[in-house]
Amino acid sequence: MFSSEPRTLLRTLKAETRPHHERAERVVRLLSPELTLSGYRRHLEALFGLHAPLEAALGVRLEELAADLRLDERWKLPLLEEDLRALGHDDASLARLPWLSHLPPLPDVPEALGALYVLEGSTLGGQLILRHLVRHFDGVSAGEFAFFRAYGEAVGPMWKDFGEALLRLCPEPALAPRVVRGAQDTFDAFEAWLREVHGDAPSHL
Ligand code: HEM
Repeated sequence: MFSSEPRTLLRTLKAETRPHHERAERVVRLLSPELTLSGYRRHLEALFGLHAPLEAALGVRLEELAADLRLDERWKLPLLEEDLRALGHDDASLARLPWLSHLPPLPDVPEALGALYVLEGSTLGGQLILRHLVRHFDGVSAGEFAFFRAYGEAVGPMWKDFGEALLRLCPEPALAPRVVRGAQDTFDAFEAWLREVHGDAPSHL
């Protein structure tokens, strides 16, 4: 399954995480016409509880590659903070937000790159969500949607840049299964955390 060169690592990642992406989409309820401002805020709070520990862990695992990956430009925690402050949060209430209990196991660089693939890829679907939020909350004081806006006009170029860095930093096909595992585990952790926050049962029950 991983040996079918000339597939690139990015294509392998996409193929091997397709069902994970579908499950992740299902726990994102932002496209609903019934979405309320507090529903949107709860979603951002859950994302904050995911990104805070995950970005910290990735910062450590990927420290040596930070410049090549442009990590400082990619972190989403400041954007989530901006959105949450616009919705009434302050330092004290942000510090009280719960963090996800089970981080995906990211033992080394290949797995961490897989996790970063998930966070970066989510900026693509995020553009669709952004368009919906802007329309849906037209005339409502809901902030600037900084998280979903992400890199603005540069979402496409930043994704391309990430794909190129991934190939440069992980050229060895034998490492692909570990990158894929990191991505799958991160999708699973995202889904489980969102379900926990929504109070849902696991999808396989
Ligand atoms: C309602 C929620 C979502 C929708 C509608 C959505 C939609 C999309 C779309 C349309 C793309 C392809 C964009 C393109 O090829 O230009 C995409 C890519 C991607 N999304 Fe999502 N997405 C959603 C949620 C998520 C979430 C929550 C995550 C991560 C936790 C995620 C991770 C990814 C990744 C990694 C890719 C890149 C796939 C690849 O080309 O390798 N998505 N999404």
